[in-house]
Amino acid sequence: MGKVHVFDHPLIQHKLSYIRDEQTGTKEFRELVDEVGMLMAYEVTRDLELQDVEIQTPVTKMTAKRLAGKKIAVVPILRAGLGMTDGVLKLIPAARVGHIGLYRDPETLQPVEYFAKLPQDIEERDFIVVDPMLATGGSAIEAINSLKKRGALKIRFMCLIAAPEGVELLKEAHPDVDIYIAGLDEKLNDHGYIVPGLGDAGDRLFGTK
Ligand code: PRP
Ligand code: URA
Repeated sequence: MGKVHVFDHPLIQHKLSYIRDEQTGTKEFRELVDEVGMLMAYEVTRDLELQDVEIQTPVTKMTAKRLAGKKIAVVPILRAGLGMTDGVLKLIPAARVGHIGLYRDPETLQPVEYFAKLPQDIEERDFIVVDPMLATGGSAIEAINSLKKRGALKIRFMCLIAAPEGVELLKEAHPDVDIYIAGLDEKLNDHGYIVPGLGDAGDRLFGTK
């Protein structure tokens, strides 16, 4: 069963409080989402494999540790996932980036895929799917279905805010996927919005409201 990790790091919680605040404007919102994306990536990559390498310091030879070269791909769910992507890339600059475009049908709340472009060597990569919001869970489940259908074997999911309903459905649908959350909220409202949440992540990131 995949694990659910909820971050309690003070820096993440501090920044998340400003992200949630309706007084925070687009520019600051975007910067904060980027920063939290980076801080979360630090923890999400905690179990990356290391290998021994022989190096020469200015003082002596030693056996040091370097990443074992496992290839990573970051996959933002469009649109709002884009806001977290650069933050992750600051820590893992060699990662490839795939894109999956999904929107929630406003009537049914069901995700509709409109775009998918992924790195070619899918089976060799570890995937980190990013999206600020895990609400009903439909978008994350569908994005991960889409990755698995194309051959992805190892997937992590990272979001800023999650509703308990979405976490449960995602765990059920993809028990092999570890879930990383900065803030686990109370519930969904009747429109499928997370309460207390942060509002519409895409609109707040891109100023489209
Ligand atoms: C938002 C968000 C997630 C999805 C979460 O995207 O970024 O992708 O909703 O909701 P769910 O868990 O109920 O599926 P939205 O559909 O608003 O599209 P956008 O990013 O293009 O604004
Ligand atoms: N998508 C958002 O952007 N916000 C929510 O609260 C739920 C889904």
